[in-house]
Amino acid sequence: MDDLRDKYIELIAGAADENALEDLRVQAVGKKGEISLKMRELGKMTPEERQVMGPKLNALKNEINSALAAKKEALADAALDERLRAEWLDVTLPGRGGRRGSIHPISQVTQEVTAIFADMGFAVAEGPQIETDWYNFDALNIPGHHPARAEMDTFYTHRAEGDNRPPHVLRTHTSPVQIRSMEAQGAPIRIICPGRVYRADYDQTHTPMFHQVEGLAIDRDISMAQLKWVLEEFFTAFFGTKVKTRFRASHFPFTEPSAEVDIQCQWKDGSVIVGEGDDWLEVLGSGMVHPKVLQAGNIDPNEWQGFAFGIGIDRLAMLKYGIPDLRAFFDSDLRWLRHYGFASLETPTLYGGLSG
Ligand code: DAH
Repeated sequence: MDDLRDKYIELIAGAADENALEDLRVQAVGKKGEISLKMRELGKMTPEERQVMGPKLNALKNEINSALAAKKEALADAALDERLRAEWLDVTLPGRGGRRGSIHPISQVTQEVTAIFADMGFAVAEGPQIETDWYNFDALNIPGHHPARAEMDTFYTHRAEGDNRPPHVLRTHTSPVQIRSMEAQGAPIRIICPGRVYRADYDQTHTPMFHQVEGLAIDRDISMAQLKWVLEEFFTAFFGTKVKTRFRASHFPFTEPSAEVDIQCQWKDGSVIVGEGDDWLEVLGSGMVHPKVLQAGNIDPNEWQGFAFGIGIDRLAMLKYGIPDLRAFFDSDLRWLRHYGFASLETPTLYGGLSG
């Protein structure tokens, strides 16, 4: 019995984990365990022998059970200590700080433009980027043979033979939203329409997709004087300084008369500064909405008139934030985005400031 005792005490002491300990328990005091089998032998003994062996076996069984329990507790303690050691962390360390995304300059400028025109009472309207050629051209007084269609490097959508739907294009300007807004709400109107436009063109100042913001104001007594005031207000607010403008007579099929508008600028070391000097930079097209365009939008030109303009948003962003190459806007280069991007919580407002 002493051998049995020594054997198990030693094995228990050496058990590596709770599973090994459980195996030992079964082996020693389980139903068919060594000690249990010994206890069964008590039945075959004489009463005298039983009187001696009974208490001894019981004591042995108790001793093994206590050793098992003590070892089990010791193992649990050790496991807990190990976890505490491994999972310990210093909550006083400074955080790691995740990288935050940034607002693309185009989105930033679109928000700035929207904030300025909203302040002057213009609502935002939107239209589809895949447009019928009627909205993109005909309704804007650009008939099929008109050279403006060729000039615009239009992307046409593919049409299967026998497809009788009207031809669709990727809109070449935001002007079709004028027509859609006239149809949808009638006069009077005061809207801007920022959005993507497409032309097959690619160099330092042209990308096949770019952004415009269209403006449209229709009422009974709107004149070019108001167009001039609105645009001058806009440039002053946008560039944060009084900017001189120059209205040059021009031609667009959808306006009569038409004007291209230049802003005052100066070239210094290959980059341009807006609002000083005596150079001029063309930034937009504008004019009084052509009667045929009002008619196409179901608005009576004898009762209503108005002005329209179209500004290149990308051009504005390049000028305001000194970005030299338009193509970089759409390269998705993270280094560029981190450099030129804006903090996401700095929503531009007229009162809180337009840019960070
Ligand atoms: N749609 C013209 C373009 O993309 C820009 C433009 C010129 C818009 C005159 C207008 C306008 O609303 O009146 O080149």
